[in-house]
Amino acid sequence: MAKDPGRILIFDTTLRDGEQSPGASLNLEEKLAIAQQLARLGVDIIEAGFPYASQGDFAAVQRIADHVGSGDGPVICGLARASKADIRACAEAVSPASQKRIHTFIATSDIHLEHKLRKTRSQVLSVVPEMVSYARSFVDDVEFSCEDAGRSDPEFLYEVIEAAIAAGASTINIPDTVGYTTPSEFGLLIKGINANVTNIEDAVLSVHGHNDLGLAVANFLEAAKNGARQFECTINGIGERAGNAALEELVMALHVRRRYFNPFFSRNIESPTPLTAIRTEEITKTSRLVSNLTGMVVQPNKAIVGANAFAHESGIHQDGVLKNRLTYEIVDARTVGLSDNRISLGKLSGRSAVRARLEELGYDLAREDLNEAFARFKDLADRKRDITDRDLEAIVSEQVQQPDARFQLLLVQVSCGSSLRPTATVSLADQDGQEKTISAVGTGPVDAVCRALNELAGEPNELIEFSVKSVTEGIDAMGEVTIRLRRNGKLFSGHSADTDVVVAAAQAFVNALNRLVAAEEKLVIHPQLDLVETDESLSL
Ligand code: KIV
Ligand code: ZN
Repeated sequence: MAKDPGRILIFDTTLRDGEQSPGASLNLEEKLAIAQQLARLGVDIIEAGFPYASQGDFAAVQRIADHVGSGDGPVICGLARASKADIRACAEAVSPASQKRIHTFIATSDIHLEHKLRKTRSQVLSVVPEMVSYARSFVDDVEFSCEDAGRSDPEFLYEVIEAAIAAGASTINIPDTVGYTTPSEFGLLIKGINANVTNIEDAVLSVHGHNDLGLAVANFLEAAKNGARQFECTINGIGERAGNAALEELVMALHVRRRYFNPFFSRNIESPTPLTAIRTEEITKTSRLVSNLTGMVVQPNKAIVGANAFAHESGIHQDGVLKNRLTYEIVDARTVGLSDNRISLGKLSGRSAVRARLEELGYDLAREDLNEAFARFKDLADRKRDITDRDLEAIVSEQVQQPDARFQLLLVQVSCGSSLRPTATVSLADQDGQEKTISAVGTGPVDAVCRALNELAGEPNELIEFSVKSVTEGIDAMGEVTIRLRRNGKLFSGHSADTDVVVAAAQAFVNALNRLVAAEEKLVIHPQLDLVETDESLSL
């Protein structure tokens, strides 16, 4: 069996594959906040981005390597296609981390070879060792992935993997890139690799999978039973198309069903040692942070982190749970950090109480950020009696969306009602501090606000999605608004929360506009859809 760490290593790719979700692009501050939270969650490896994609991606990976990867922080990894230019950029970006990894990949399925790479199998077979050893010339820790392994000929995979390990790869990743395989097929693929690759003992076998058929988590669990020891996953399962395998589902499956999985790790069935190093109590907070910052709303019935995951609606279930939790609950909500504890923050709470609570929630804010968060807290406390953890999280996540924003919302006023034409007046400041105010009429107050903002910003777009949900219960609850805009086929999301949903909508719209202009300013290369350019880039 492949080099066995005795448990599952959690490789989080929220910031790379997760960020490839349509509309989920994140700015540098947001990426850093997520990376810091991933470190608190206890992931083993953070794939922080694809440094060659753009200057912004490079800077984000470098900053995360520096701030989160120091000391005994997680391994910081960057993605690189099998090209020297990609690998060089990646090596430089991850270099500040104490533990750094280059993750390089090339497709191995015939369909990708023929239509995407336009390469023969033997050409791919010669690129792999060349690129792995090139990556090894920069770092000791190199991961190699066979893209579309799920649809590759296993015999060819064995050859490629053997060559990659011989050239120095210490992790071999098997992606089901298009989410095609079934659990038993995927398990057999892993078993076959373990049985047929002669030097497999020298590498950790990893799995990566997309959820096109809703099977990614099941596939990984079957892979673990057959020797896979690294899971590549994302928070809330975000990612290309139907997303990636969800970290929280994998971790909790291994946690709740430890007795079932223990024997596959050569452990005694009763062994209490966790099968991952994840601090499960951090799961809910991490999920909310990622959802708030990416604008990817979590479906209410989503396992582990959905709003209804621990809610018991029917009377029979409630009665059962009250008598004995175990009748209808397999996970105690507190295990994933979900508690109903209302905190006693309100109008009279001071700065230090707010700071202490934020610290308990995992937000370690710099002085100016704390000042701003406290001002927002005070403002909210004037309008809302009890302030909950969720309210505080909404306040802080709003803040990290602000840096390097092109537009700043200064004012929103609306007049509407049964006999009025909804009219909005909004003021925006641009990067140079120039203020402009305009009024517009719409079909409703939100439409009027969006029309006015569009006119001021002058950035054509199409509104694709507008959703509102309340952060907590009660008539004075904050409304959370998520907006998605489309321009040139690309999606951009914005998110905001306020006790006034029209104000939240205006701010969310401005956040989405800021993302749109930021994305247009940088040229981004997609790691998978763009061709690995030419022969030249493969053998520079
Ligand atoms: O899905 C995939 O194949 C990937 C690789 C780049 C690992 O994301
Ligand atoms: Zn992927």
